[in-house]
Amino acid sequence: MSPTAAKKTKLEGEVFYPNPETLTGTHVPDWEAQAAQASKDLTGYWARRAEELEWVRKWDTVLDESKKPFYQWFVGGKVNIVQNCLDRHVKTWRRNKLALIWEGEPGDQRTFSYHALNREVNKFANVLRAMGIKKGDRVTIYLPRIPEIVIAMLACAKIGAVHSVVYGGFSVESLHGRILDSHSKLAITADGGWLNGKIVKLKDILDEALQRSPSVEHVIVVKRTGQEICMDPERDLWYHDLMMLPIASPKCETEVMDAEDPLYILYTSGTTGKPKAILHTHGGYMVGIYATLHDVFDIRDEDRWWCTADPGWVTGHSYMVYVPLLNGATSFLYEGAPSYPYPNRWWQMIEKYDITILYTAPTAIRGLMRFGEAWPNRHDISSLRLLGSVGEPINPEAWKWYHRVIGKERCPIMDTWWQTETGMFMITPTPSVPLKPGSGTRPYFGALKPGSGTRPYFGAAAEIVDEAGKPVPDGEEGFLVLLKPWPAMLRGIYGDPDRYVKQYWSKYPGKYLTGDSAKRDKDGYFWIIGRVDDVIKVSGYRLGTAEIESALVSHPAVAEAAAIGLPHEVKGTAIHTFVILRSGYSPSLELMDELRNHVGHEMGPIAKPEEIKFVDSLPKTRSGKIMRRVLKARAQGLPEGDVSTLED
Ligand code: PRX
Repeated sequence: MSPTAAKKTKLEGEVFYPNPETLTGTHVPDWEAQAAQASKDLTGYWARRAEELEWVRKWDTVLDESKKPFYQWFVGGKVNIVQNCLDRHVKTWRRNKLALIWEGEPGDQRTFSYHALNREVNKFANVLRAMGIKKGDRVTIYLPRIPEIVIAMLACAKIGAVHSVVYGGFSVESLHGRILDSHSKLAITADGGWLNGKIVKLKDILDEALQRSPSVEHVIVVKRTGQEICMDPERDLWYHDLMMLPIASPKCETEVMDAEDPLYILYTSGTTGKPKAILHTHGGYMVGIYATLHDVFDIRDEDRWWCTADPGWVTGHSYMVYVPLLNGATSFLYEGAPSYPYPNRWWQMIEKYDITILYTAPTAIRGLMRFGEAWPNRHDISSLRLLGSVGEPINPEAWKWYHRVIGKERCPIMDTWWQTETGMFMITPTPSVPLKPGSGTRPYFGALKPGSGTRPYFGAAAEIVDEAGKPVPDGEEGFLVLLKPWPAMLRGIYGDPDRYVKQYWSKYPGKYLTGDSAKRDKDGYFWIIGRVDDVIKVSGYRLGTAEIESALVSHPAVAEAAAIGLPHEVKGTAIHTFVILRSGYSPSLELMDELRNHVGHEMGPIAKPEEIKFVDSLPKTRSGKIMRRVLKARAQGLPEGDVSTLED
């Protein structure tokens, strides 16, 4: 691959035209034609993509809209996602190909061929079955970024159990709420995980959460760090002990599932109240995510794919665990922190493992950018051919640094917009040679604008509308909505069908409400601005103001609390809170620290507020709702907007 600098052309703002010489060609020969086909014949298009995978029984109907917005995909089809992640590959030469390369933070390494991964998954699936876990049962997985998280998720899917993975950075209350809501029978954790040279005490946190979670009958514990932990002889079992028993046979039948059977639930923050369990199913999710990695990251057998996301978030579910396997790819997983022990850790591993595609979040890029380019420049990272970004808008400065310093002006950046709910990319660039460079008259695939996710993916249609649901002119900000169903779409909120309809499909009937505001430019490129609801994206992590507020209010000193997000150089958005104290308590630095730590204990370190302000009152509507919009405007010295509903 020649390291020729990409040709740059000025058009509207800055447009980057990837240089044809540095692109390896893509699986998709004609993007325009595919996009046109998919938009003309949505179901025909997705049926063709589904045929690229293996099914036990083919579907009768590609898309059933009769109960919309409860759309159903590939109805009548029989399949298990694991059949296409593992079973399909171990029948071919790929059985000897590397599926997973792993490095722990202390530097230990493990690799798994497809054959080896399949064997581990089979063994663990047999263990789960022997413990009485059946199709439809929920299993909570609370593990660090170690191979066992991948094995546990796949083993659940293989036997038809529904996994509910809780991010290892969440703490007692967040974990407790998720276990309680999901009625999990089993929890899987580790004695700890390494992060920044320290041990995250996952088992201790789980033990505390389980004191009030009666549904969990057993806990399986992976030995990772070897530190002393308490094992409850009635409830807790070591993973390695179980995997040595005769029940852990390496042969295991994959449960045949209906395409619409649940695969997993994943909790995410929404507009109000506690996090909701987003439900994804085997068939449509499998087809949708498979197609996106195949097309957008042009995944090949010789690639080494690194999605840096934690499997505890949707990016990890879709693009770390399931989709590389669906595509028969080799992927890399790293346990620890990006700058441990030094800020070259990532670049060192890219060099060592010859990573070809890096998919990460803007916050990580900004964080590593701070340390300067000398760190990446110490390493030969020329194996990289494509880069990706996800989770929040990427500011053009970070985009350009990523493009120049990491991509050496050779690697196109795929800025993929999507959500826990969408399961798969919905707005994304393509790694293609621009067809009409410089024409400026119409949108074209391949040309990149820093900060824009470019255009909707095949079959997707997006629009920007005003409060009344009317499309706004190009260049104006509005609410981003999706107009057509897609196969990996959420199938609902587990246990709360009404909330699903209300939250996503009621504001503009027939249109899916994303919760984001955005603009579209005259080339048809979409520019995401950010959330317009009570969700805060802190370092790309999705948190709800309501959760942070209730964590604060659970402290005896706090009478009322409000949380807002304000711009932050590295985190994108940081949490700022306003607290009214109960009588008998007075503001102090010690109390401020105590409250921050309290939120850390309840929710996890990522939710610790950047700032806590003690106030006497909060701006509220006459019906008593906190006007966070007003707090945000005041904090930034901006106009307060319409305050006619303000209480006082
Ligand atoms: O605000 C958008 C932002 O992340 C939200 C979805 O968060 P979550 O469900 O945690 O999923 C994150 C990973 C897909 C969106 O509503 N977001 C995600 N990707 C982008 C983005 N904002 C701008 N550009 C993106 N590429």
